[in-house]
Amino acid sequence: MSTPEQPQSTPSASTAPNKKPGEEAAPALLTFEGPHESPPAAGAGPLEEPGFKDVVALGDLKEGEMAPFTVDGVSMVLVLLGGEVHALGGKCPHRGAPMAQGAACHSLDHGPVVVCPWHKAVFSAATGALEQPPAFAPLPRYPVRVQVGRVQVRPVPLPVPEAPPTGGGQSVLVLGGGAAAASALYTLRELGFAGTVTLVHDEPELPYDRTVLCKSLLLADPKRIKAPLLLDKDWYAAHGVRCVHGHVTRFDAQTRRASLDDGLQLTASHVILAMGGQARMVPVPGCTLEGVYVLHNQAQARRIAATVTPDQAVVLVGGDLVCLEVAATLRQKGVGVTVVAPHPLPVAATFTIAVANRLVRLHEENGVAFVFDADLKAIYGAGSVFGVELSDGMRIPCTHVLVGAGELPQAEAVAGVEKSPEGAVVVDESMKAASHVYAVGDMASIRRGSEGGLFSPGHWRPAEIGGRVAALSIMGSPVRDLPVPWFWTQQYGRRVEYCGWGEPFDAVEVRGSLESFDFMAFCWQGSRVVGLVACGHTRAMCQAVVDFDRFVRDEAPQPPHLRPANPVITDAQAEGGQSATAGQRHGDGAPPSPPTLLPNPGAVGGE
Ligand SMILES: Cc1cc2nc3c(=O)[nH]c(=O)nc-3n(C[C@H](O)[C@H](O)[C@H](O)COP(=O)(O)OP(=O)(O)OC[C@H]3O[C@@H](n4cnc5c(N)ncnc54)[C@H](O)[C@@H]3O)c2cc1C
Ligand code: FES
Repeated sequence: MSTPEQPQSTPSASTAPNKKPGEEAAPALLTFEGPHESPPAAGAGPLEEPGFKDVVALGDLKEGEMAPFTVDGVSMVLVLLGGEVHALGGKCPHRGAPMAQGAACHSLDHGPVVVCPWHKAVFSAATGALEQPPAFAPLPRYPVRVQVGRVQVRPVPLPVPEAPPTGGGQSVLVLGGGAAAASALYTLRELGFAGTVTLVHDEPELPYDRTVLCKSLLLADPKRIKAPLLLDKDWYAAHGVRCVHGHVTRFDAQTRRASLDDGLQLTASHVILAMGGQARMVPVPGCTLEGVYVLHNQAQARRIAATVTPDQAVVLVGGDLVCLEVAATLRQKGVGVTVVAPHPLPVAATFTIAVANRLVRLHEENGVAFVFDADLKAIYGAGSVFGVELSDGMRIPCTHVLVGAGELPQAEAVAGVEKSPEGAVVVDESMKAASHVYAVGDMASIRRGSEGGLFSPGHWRPAEIGGRVAALSIMGSPVRDLPVPWFWTQQYGRRVEYCGWGEPFDAVEVRGSLESFDFMAFCWQGSRVVGLVACGHTRAMCQAVVDFDRFVRDEAPQPPHLRPANPVITDAQAEGGQSATAGQRHGDGAPPSPPTLLPNPGAVGGE
């Protein structure tokens, strides 16, 4: 903190004005991006010190908002939180999202934080440190000070403080090389774990971003399909992580011993199980024909991209989110798509009937055909696929079948732990499954509270949160409260986000417009909001991710049936775009991109 007598560079600046009369202004290169009327002139600050650039009048910053600036070519945001000004990197270190479109708010666990708009990485506003993945790097932080009511910044990032080494005599073995594993590895080293760390992965690649496989990546030249690595390939050697390529055939939680398919045996003081899930195949006649696919890994994505061409027809069986995302991507490629779903409406249990209906209509607007309540009897063909047959006799000709019917936890090889009815490893809220054994991500099922129900992460950010929580538990800093899970889906450029524990709900209140994909749906269970589904309300969802209870207390203090102006909207009523409080908007979001309309060759045809 600077004082009137002895100005110093400060990581964050108090808003108390500091005067240093008579100092010359140093020239500054300042590009103004903020929401103000007119940009301040470069070098306008009367009291600049060498290295510090005058940026903006303090009075132009609004409490709790992130104002974007480019100073000497450096993108940054200025954040005023609780009277303190912070200067932080303007782009998220994960994928470069513009941080200014996220939220700056207060977290019960981490204090003042900023949240990335795209995948909700959370960073400390005071230090830039990563608090919650999916980013695996801190947000750069710049010295900032306030002089005579002007905010000044030195556009040179402050060094990232290193955590003191700890746990030197111990070892951690991470089994499985996906998102949860990468997060555990990063957290261990970020927080100074100095013991040995070993990763066992069975895919040819080191942990990569699986979520892109059914999105834009399927449109790429198959030979060039390469999902982004979660941690740079050099990160492992640089951080002393030993990578072993192999498949775990057995793990015994009592002895903490893992056996690999090549006979190698591994053990460690702590073991993190992170073997994820496996795409569920429907066990019908013909499911092994050439041209029947599931999509879980990069090799499968390459095969699908190489063999499915625009003039063909594909039947997508199952109707889970991966299935719907593949449908959207294949339509962009011009492929004919029919979705055969075993239930009356895909994804309604989480996204609500109202939102699920709108998503289905979006697909229909883009030429996808649906068969609901369908019972798949067989996939027929000779060597390769000719079509699918339903139990009511309907036949749908196609060249390929892709099954997107959910995932099965990959825990058969694990012995000596409690398992859920689905076969996932049951863990407590510190991700512990047995003494010094943790399970995270899609292979785990979390028991919430001593008598709480089981929650299966099933999505990317919750999997990475699990990896981080396990690492923190190993390092003796267990997390007090697990963050409320969040995930997103992207279809035809529409990004729908969910925040909640996936609990069932009995009423849904939709604010905004389903029709134009600018809405927030509150899922009520009695007098409690248990879930939020939103599109175009990025900032509001950032706030909900950080403090769900506070967000719903502020935004929905009373159940709808106690508000005379807002009758209870059941999910079925809300279907079709009925709006309880139309036009309310809680935050900013990128304008949705228009859907692409393409012809749909070969879509649903009875035979
Ligand atoms: C195509 C696709 C798209 C998705 N899109 C989204 C999305 O948009 N948003 C979202 O929130 N979520 C999405 N998800 C879900 C998300 O990717 C998963 O929830 C997340 O990857 C789970 O991480 P994980 O580390 O638990 O498991 P995984 O990512 O499945 O990683 C587990 C790893 O362990 C390996 N393994 C398994 N068994 C063994 C063994 N016996 N020995 C050694 N290694 C083993 C596996 O091969 C794999 O590499 C998507 C999933 C898929 C498949
Ligand atoms: S771009 Fe910020 S978390 Fe992904």
